[in-house]
Amino acid sequence: MATDFTEANAADAVVDSFADTPDPRLRTIMSSLVRHLHAFVRDVEPTLPEWEQAIDFLTAVGQKCDDKRQEFILFSDALGVSMLVETINARGAAETTASTVLGPFHVVESPPRELGDSIDLLGGEPCVVTGRVRSVDGTPLPGARLDIWQASDRGFYDVQQPDVQPEGNLRGLFTADADGAFWFRTVVPSYYPIPTDGPVGQLLTATNRHPYRPAHIHFIVSADGHVPVTTHVFVADSPYIDSDAVFAVKRSLIREFRVVDDEDEASAYGVPAPFRLATVEFVLERREQG
Ligand code: BEZ
Ligand code: FE
Repeated sequence: MATDFTEANAADAVVDSFADTPDPRLRTIMSSLVRHLHAFVRDVEPTLPEWEQAIDFLTAVGQKCDDKRQEFILFSDALGVSMLVETINARGAAETTASTVLGPFHVVESPPRELGDSIDLLGGEPCVVTGRVRSVDGTPLPGARLDIWQASDRGFYDVQQPDVQPEGNLRGLFTADADGAFWFRTVVPSYYPIPTDGPVGQLLTATNRHPYRPAHIHFIVSADGHVPVTTHVFVADSPYIDSDAVFAVKRSLIREFRVVDDEDEASAYGVPAPFRLATVEFVLERREQG
């Protein structure tokens, strides 16, 4: 139907135009996108200036992106879409570590580090994170790889403060030992706002939403023959633990970062007392053969 475009037949006309798409998945996606978009427009009935404003918003989102800033990911995060995609793709993996958003700050390669190294290059309240990586059946995963990144105790990633933090600060690529165990030293991260100096920040302001994420450490954990997991460990007593701006908190990922005021324990980890200690276990799903 190429003529007589009406409100009633608009969606069908556009869906029909994709009928010859050779890739069936692309045809399904485009048809669904068109039907949902048209339903949205019929529901909202935007004025022409409002539609222009929507186009200007998306243009600004694109213009804010560069190799260190991803405003489209931020937009998807703030709408809960990133977490929805994550959650759909982790269906049926109940005993494995829950996944969360990658976020926009995994933009530089984490420096390889030895177990026990500090990822904090500037100093702050000492913190030790220890843990283990295992398969769902309990088998330890020696040689598992852990890509780790976090914000500082002031709530900034290295790439946000190139004049303050050296590149690679609070990032590290670790390899678990023969028992699948790992440990590293760091500082307790702070809660922080997602970047608000762009169109997504303006949208949060206009809708009276706060921009904060509760304190967390990011992990991508991978091991041979297993499905990698992208996740966070959240600091239990952090502000905003119940109202994450990007909806990424899952209860199973919250850990106590307890205060340890014991000289012997501190010296065993090579940190001064008191320090904070968190322990975490990552459970990966075996990859299906073939
Ligand atoms: C982050 O945790 O790094 C993050 C995730 C989503 C939006 C902004 C930041
Ligand atoms: Fe983060």
